[in-house]
Amino acid sequence: MEEFQFRQNELWCEQVNLNHLAAECGTPLYVYSKRSIVDHCRHVERAFGTIDHLSCYAVKANANIAVLRLLAGEGIGADAGSIGEMRIAIEAGFSPEKITFSGVGKRDDEIEYALKKGIMALNVESSEEIDVIDAIASRLKSRAKIFLRLNFDIESGTHPYITTGRKQNKFGIELDSAAEALRRARSFSNVEVIGIHTHLGSQITRVDAFIAAATAMVKVIRELRADGMPISQLNFGGGFGVQYRDYITHPGLPAEIEHSESGVTTVKMLQAVLPVLAGANCRILIQPGRSIVAHAGILMTKVLYIKDTKSKRFVIVDAGMNDLIRPSLYQSYHQIVPLCLKGRPHGVVDIVGPLCESGDFFALDRMLPAVERSEYLGVLCTGAYGYVLSSNYNGRPRPAEMLVDGDQFGVIRKPETISDLY
Ligand code: LLP
Repeated sequence: MEEFQFRQNELWCEQVNLNHLAAECGTPLYVYSKRSIVDHCRHVERAFGTIDHLSCYAVKANANIAVLRLLAGEGIGADAGSIGEMRIAIEAGFSPEKITFSGVGKRDDEIEYALKKGIMALNVESSEEIDVIDAIASRLKSRAKIFLRLNFDIESGTHPYITTGRKQNKFGIELDSAAEALRRARSFSNVEVIGIHTHLGSQITRVDAFIAAATAMVKVIRELRADGMPISQLNFGGGFGVQYRDYITHPGLPAEIEHSESGVTTVKMLQAVLPVLAGANCRILIQPGRSIVAHAGILMTKVLYIKDTKSKRFVIVDAGMNDLIRPSLYQSYHQIVPLCLKGRPHGVVDIVGPLCESGDFFALDRMLPAVERSEYLGVLCTGAYGYVLSSNYNGRPRPAEMLVDGDQFGVIRKPETISDLY
């Protein structure tokens, strides 16, 4: 399943030598492994066994249409967070009956688009949104299927910016208001509540948080049923964390410290949670993003300069926070490796980009084998929330994206050029 491996001293993606690819195609460059995407998807599917379910890939994690086509080809569904994501998902081949539409601020035109296209369901976040959906559905003479997103106020231990299941977060309907919201929704003739939804946050590695959410979900579904409100589906959201540290081990690389994410897999988390969710006797939906694509991507970058000061050694590379913002925004950890290991000693460095901000870094005080100008580094596990969060900040065109398939590779998004900035 892990398609990035060192062969002798060089890093390969499937059957492609990445050190050669970087030299041939230029950097910064995102590269994805087709095999890895497909395998991660199939592992999640297999974890369900014979359970009636639908996995809806969260398009926001990696919205490249070539990636979406692969996943549509696996027969799974998609979760879209905007009209743009709905359109690209449909264009990629996802059937609208397998697409859900999530988001706390759906615009009227987006709701209208979803209804006209026959999107499977909208995950609704507030009572007022239900009123708006009913009005739009009534104007279109259609009936909107909705899941009510509930906020169980569960601490999941992830970064505060990507926690969505606490009461201070803008997401979901408070548990105390759930029955009322549901009753209200059921009084509208153009809205049909088909299930309950929740999404705790992202990069969650604590199984106990998922168990707590599953337990709360089952309890509320039972209570609603006892109150005469039938619920036949539940959507457990996404958020399954992945291992970022120590993704690749090699005698020439420094060992990385153990962390709560070590050994975490989506399959293990699902195996813990599914027996609890079974208590609700519902069809189960999930919306995984990161866990399908994170491990499938690498950001390759070239060393521009080595700069020594009295207190630091900076490795200045040609990718920056505009290409990959996760370390700057969430203090996220990505393992970084030379694409060619030369047996040099290890030292502590800051790996930084060329932008005019001290927040423009990929790693601080990181142990790295010594590297020199013009050599290449790979920032690992950047298939999720990498390119999709890139920008043109500091007048920088976005990089290319490539897909590797066995010993073949191809551009799946051309690099932007300076004229794209005008
Ligand atoms: N469903 C909903 C409603 C979501 O908002 C999200 C992610 C997902 C599913 C997928 O979650 P995943 O399985 O990928 O954890 N940019 C941040 C992550 C933001 C996640 C936003 N919502 C990062 O780079 O860590």
